[in-house]
Amino acid sequence: MTASKSGLYRDLVAQLGALLAGETDRVANAANMAALIYHGLPDLNWAGFYFRQGADLVLGPFQGKPACVRIPLGKGVCGIATARAGTVLVPDVHDFPAHIACDPASRSELVVPLIETGEVSGVLDLDSPIVGRFDEIDQAGCERLVALFVDHHHRDPG
Ligand code: SME
Repeated sequence: MTASKSGLYRDLVAQLGALLAGETDRVANAANMAALIYHGLPDLNWAGFYFRQGADLVLGPFQGKPACVRIPLGKGVCGIATARAGTVLVPDVHDFPAHIACDPASRSELVVPLIETGEVSGVLDLDSPIVGRFDEIDQAGCERLVALFVDHHHRDPG
């Protein structure tokens, strides 16, 4: 199980590399990355981006139900990951009072910040209806996917 889950992330990294190749538009690439993750990982009910605009995170490309548009820095799992400049893994959102419930079906969450030239420019947010859905393999895998996305746009600013 563990080995196949690591293999799944290796495949997703390769597929993301192929999707990004030759394209510099951040919104288009973020949209394809959200779709790749949402359809490639089991048991998700939301996968997408928030991008930083001043004191807020603003909704970016995603897959799933319509979501909260603005999240102030420091609020919600996304705003906390941004303020900390580090990944936040919430096994059960009912035990995390700061969680912002865009969809009451969401029970666990993984948020990985996009760190560009020392600043958090946004986050990748994954939600699942299953308690304890995300573990350290998901965290490491999603951090690799985000690093690929960030590095790609630094090599080819678009
Ligand atoms: N739950 C997030 C808000 C965004 S939605 O999950 C799509 C949070 O607490 O920041």
